[in-house]
Amino acid sequence: MIGRPRVHLRATDSTNERAKALAGAGAVHGTLVTAREQSAGRGRQGRSWTAEPGSAVLMSLVLRDLSEHYALLPLGAAVAVCEAAEACVQVRCRIKWPNDVWIEGRKVAGILVEGRVQEGWAVLGIGLNVRKVDFPPELSGMATTLGIEDTEGVLTEILGALSRRLADPQAEVLAAWRVRDALAGQHVRWDGGEGTAAGIDDAGSLLVDTRDGRVALAAGEVHLAPLNRG
Ligand code: BTN
Repeated sequence: MIGRPRVHLRATDSTNERAKALAGAGAVHGTLVTAREQSAGRGRQGRSWTAEPGSAVLMSLVLRDLSEHYALLPLGAAVAVCEAAEACVQVRCRIKWPNDVWIEGRKVAGILVEGRVQEGWAVLGIGLNVRKVDFPPELSGMATTLGIEDTEGVLTEILGALSRRLADPQAEVLAAWRVRDALAGQHVRWDGGEGTAAGIDDAGSLLVDTRDGRVALAAGEVHLAPLNRG
């Protein structure tokens, strides 16, 4: 059972920080931390994550004994978030490698996995924009929301979808991710090269066809430049 026990905080720095502290103190598999508001929400690669109070699902799950699933956890979580969003509203979600969830080319959810593999736990942090908000100008072309009110209902859907996907064989996670691949065929650039995205390999690395041949980029090691959507 994931999602219990649950700690809900009106305001906190970062649910991932709270969940990591609980995990380090021995919290059981499935322990959930949620918040209405974060003052220091964190994103991947050192970025911050902001959301208007009460407008988003802000959640972090403590997961244990993930040895065989750990490598694909960020990808499986992105698939689960897509499935949850699609159960709540009539949309089709896609995934920008490795785990940004997009609706019509705008980011609706982000995922940050942090862990102490040697201690046998990981924290899966998810931020999903639910309620309609006025984004600041610098985000308005890049971010979106589900446009509904019921953040708790969305959380329930996410937990259900995660329960199913975390138990899935890796091949099924990979197949479900691949049909949602937002980058396939797109020109991508990173600090080291550029080329055409060509899907992911079985380790979840992004395959890119460059002038010098096909390369595999590992998540965490490269930072893709923003897509030029013309
Ligand atoms: C990203 O897209 O860069 C990842 C964003 C992850 C944000 C969520 S919000 C809940 C949890 N707590 C955090 O501090 N970060 C994650």
